[in-house]
Amino acid sequence: DASALSRAESLIGSIPDYPEPGVMFRDITPLLADAEALRVTIEALLEPFAGRFDVVAGIEARGFLLAGAAAVAAGVGLVPIRKAGKLPRPAASVSYALEYGTAEIEMHDDIADGTRVLLLDDVLATGGTLEAGRALVARLGGEVTGTAVLLEIDALGGRHVLGGDVHSIFHV
Ligand code: PRP
Ligand code: MG
Repeated sequence: DASALSRAESLIGSIPDYPEPGVMFRDITPLLADAEALRVTIEALLEPFAGRFDVVAGIEARGFLLAGAAAVAAGVGLVPIRKAGKLPRPAASVSYALEYGTAEIEMHDDIADGTRVLLLDDVLATGGTLEAGRALVARLGGEVTGTAVLLEIDALGGRHVLGGDVHSIFHV
């Protein structure tokens, strides 16, 4: 409910000048450590998508913190999207831009064509990570039927990169 969710939101920390000067780091670990906050947050992440996905995909590393819990709560499987070089079998890969340089994520083809995928991450900032995640799922024949994050940083405009189609529980 709303009061449990606002209590969960109050557990998100803000750490100035981490990992570098001028950056405000949003720390979700106190929320994760609280049983009720974690439960209501996972419920809120899943709520708009009931019956509309066959599997959850979470993006390494912090997306994994939500994806496992969400998959079990929804009664579906979990497909990890990993940073490049970590998967043992041939994997599809997509590169994306970071503030400085590029990054790459990979995924095994463990989804049948047409599988409906709920894509999860912890934070939406510029949107590059989730956009790359969407491209990866599409390349493997999956259909992203939902994209959800715990926290959206509104000023960075990631929502527009994702065509406005993202479910965010909390905003800063
Ligand atoms: C952070 C965060 C999101 C991403 C959001 O991940 O967990 O995945 O940045 O940024 P964007 O919207 O601008 O792409 P990061 O790559 O820092 O690493 P981690 O999840 O492995 O800690
Ligand atoms: Mg991340």
